[in-house]
Amino acid sequence: MIDLRSDTFTLPSKEMMESIMNAKLGDDVWEEDPTVIELEALIAKKLGKEAGLLVTSGTQGNLVSHMTHLARGDGVVLEKESHINLYEVGGVSQVSGAYPMIVNGENGLMDPKDIESIFTTPYNVHKVIPRLLCLENTHNRGGGRIIPKDNIDTLSKIANENGGSVHLDGARLFNAAVATGISAAKLAEKVDSVQICLSKGLGCPIGSLIVGTEDFIFKSRRNRKIVGGGMRQAGIIAAPGIYALTNMIDRLAEDHNHAKMLGKALEEIQNFNVKPYDTNIVIVDTTESKLSAGDVADKLEKKGILVTFMEDQLFRMVTYFGITKEDVESVISSIFEVLK
Ligand SMILES: Cc1ncc(COP(=O)(O)O)c(C=O)c1O
Repeated sequence: MIDLRSDTFTLPSKEMMESIMNAKLGDDVWEEDPTVIELEALIAKKLGKEAGLLVTSGTQGNLVSHMTHLARGDGVVLEKESHINLYEVGGVSQVSGAYPMIVNGENGLMDPKDIESIFTTPYNVHKVIPRLLCLENTHNRGGGRIIPKDNIDTLSKIANENGGSVHLDGARLFNAAVATGISAAKLAEKVDSVQICLSKGLGCPIGSLIVGTEDFIFKSRRNRKIVGGGMRQAGIIAAPGIYALTNMIDRLAEDHNHAKMLGKALEEIQNFNVKPYDTNIVIVDTTESKLSAGDVADKLEKKGILVTFMEDQLFRMVTYFGITKEDVESVISSIFEVLK
């Protein structure tokens, strides 16, 4: 099977597994695991923030950040198609007690006018007060779309100048950095906190990291404990993280090239509407075609290819470490054979 369902299917390399075997360990709840301490310092430096914290997953990283930024009844501004809005079980409300204020985006890109309007509506007794703006880069449902730095900077300025903080769900921020040639630190320079995933294109089996000020991380460490994220010899998770941040970032360009090959091939299928494929995700809308997303998934599965069925007329292919150029060429042959 060639599995293109998600970059979360990436398996750790032999070298990454060896990093686990060789990790120096301690009790991380006591802040005595040297490998975790090293990883947290490394990510803080890479993202140009004061401090970092290892968490179990992207969802936990976003949740813990929300718990730190938000109080009960605060407004949290979310893009309609964002992962936090659609796929994190409403934790931002359930756990942080915040009220979601939803903004429409265009493949994840929000219009500064909409953010301005939310953040500058004059105070009155009835109104929910927005306290946090969440951004997502790259944007998953936008087809791995890169949110440009000037948009991030403009939206962040509006929020910051009007009493709001900004959290960036950067599950795939390094994909954006590699594709644009702008460092992750520069892309995130105007936001207050960032979550990045180790367990997607970077190839780790587990883990995410959050970064922000010393004070943000101090509070987040306590919030992580509340949601069961205080881990003991967590160096076995941190060691592959260090390996990934050192060795797995630049190679993301290979995944982007593979996605471009797939995107171009899919554009040749009649009435397939392919979303912009800036990085490693290709999403196709089949509304104008005779084929539903389910038809496509079934036909490709018979050829040994797995894709994600997202909605009746929407399917997704994702490239990652472990999907080779030969795999992509073989998928393209099958696309032409069974879909054309
Ligand atoms: C943009 C984005 N944010 C957050 C997450 C959540 O990460 P996790 O699955 O590690 O909880 C994902 C997962 O796919 C994602 O795509």
